Amino acid sequence: MSPARLRAAVEQAVRDLGREPDLVFLHNPEHSLQETAPQSRDLLAQACAALDDAAAQGLCGGWGVASWDPSPLPNLIDTGTPRPSVLMVRAGLLVGIRTLDAAETLTKAWNLGDGQVWGMSPFGGSTRAPVWAKTDPRVFIQGGNRFSHVQAAFRVAFHLPRVSAIAVGTDDPTHLGELTGALDGEVDGRTIREYRSLLRDRLRSQPA
Ligand SMILES: NC(=O)c1ccc[n+]([C@@H]2O[C@H](COP(=O)([O-])OP(=O)(O)OC[C@H]3O[C@@H](n4cnc5c(N)ncnc54)[C@H](OP(=O)(O)O)[C@@H]3O)[C@@H](O)[C@H]2O)c1
Repeated sequence: MSPARLRAAVEQAVRDLGREPDLVFLHNPEHSLQETAPQSRDLLAQACAALDDAAAQGLCGGWGVASWDPSPLPNLIDTGTPRPSVLMVRAGLLVGIRTLDAAETLTKAWNLGDGQVWGMSPFGGSTRAPVWAKTDPRVFIQGGNRFSHVQAAFRVAFHLPRVSAIAVGTDDPTHLGELTGALDGEVDGRTIREYRSLLRDRLRSQPA
């Protein structure tokens, strides 16, 4: 995650694409930063500054941070850390309360507004995983029975945590159409709050 290597990677992306990318993500910075390591804060700030400079110089339209587990990041940023234009975090019913809390703490710390927090991987990589056969995400949606389970899981993911866009993996245009067809579903805020409270209770009841 050295600034020089990040800069070189953005320049390479421009050559590969034949144009400047609209958005470049710093991918899972938590993997190369350890919360306790004294230099982690500086390393993250330098990595963000390298991407901020690249965007300012027109090598990309903007830059973001994509984090599978943002838990270590809130303690590593301060007013000197350049602010990304997008934070992308895991979203959906498979995300634990620690990750949800960390994503929201980071959103606040960076003062990110509407449209700046995106979700990813709403099905945890597969809609065929056994967990989805045991779950009915339609309970989170008012009049949810008009949606399929997959549609409802996708719609709910916009609220766990609160995100304005979601990166989902599919090569099938029909599947994509099915998902976008669920965007008008109204998610019940009270059920989301109750669900989060259950997640929190469960965490408290686990041995440390
Ligand atoms: N930072 C990280 O560490 C990290 C890790 C994982 C993912 N990501 C990001 O998240 C994005 C999405 O993640 P992902 O692809 O791993 O997982 P995902 O979006 O949770 O799940 C993709 C799976 O959902 C299925 N699916 C989608 N729509 C469907 C529908 N309408 N009906 C039935 N099945 C449906 C797809 O099958 P079909 O192909 O058959 O539609 C595919 O197998 C990635 O592109 C990446 O940007 C980041």
